[in-house]
Amino acid sequence: MAAGTDLNAYAAEIAGCTRCRLAEGRTQVVFGVGNPEAEVMFVGEAPGFHEDKQGYPFVGQAGKLLDQLLGGIGMSRADVYVANVIKCRPPGNRDPMPDEIEACESHLFRQVDLIEPKLVGTLGNFATKLLSGKPTGITRVHGQEQQVELGGRAVLLYPLYHPAAALYTPAMLSMLQEDFARIPELLGRVIEPVPEPEPLLAAEPAVQLGLF
Ligand code: URA
Repeated sequence: MAAGTDLNAYAAEIAGCTRCRLAEGRTQVVFGVGNPEAEVMFVGEAPGFHEDKQGYPFVGQAGKLLDQLLGGIGMSRADVYVANVIKCRPPGNRDPMPDEIEACESHLFRQVDLIEPKLVGTLGNFATKLLSGKPTGITRVHGQEQQVELGGRAVLLYPLYHPAAALYTPAMLSMLQEDFARIPELLGRVIEPVPEPEPLLAAEPAVQLGLF
């Protein structure tokens, strides 16, 4: 359970984080929750009212939908790890600002390093853009898995609509359910490891290259 111990230690380390202005209005840092050895990690946007009060991500209506979606593929919260791009609630649930994302992103990257998930489901635009490193929005990329390198490891990034957006839009909910249904198949995929970097100098001794 080394990952669990290290995650707990990291959570304690950042409980007093003051890297950005969101520290001023929060009740607490909402670090993340779930199985530290999970193959599947979900990354949302930022804590809302209930998450800020309770200290855990996705405990409100969007969280209930996430639970249902997981149930639909035979999984539960105990099987996965759930975190957000931003660890503190933005006032009035406004969108996170670019400097807040920049200040907070290394917390998420550290979580990914420790958990070593095989698949990261990015819920909505903010997580998708941050972890793909591309500006393409969720409407265009949802359901399209892509292999990315996170912390030196190959990970399958799987962009998904945000459950909060799907709550009141039946068409989006259907797409989210369809995209979720592919998760078990994606977990069976072999992920190509990140190739070793090429040595800077040719391995052959100079004499074999006919230089002498
Ligand atoms: N929406 C998110 O993106 N994260 C939460 O934790 C709750 C709602």
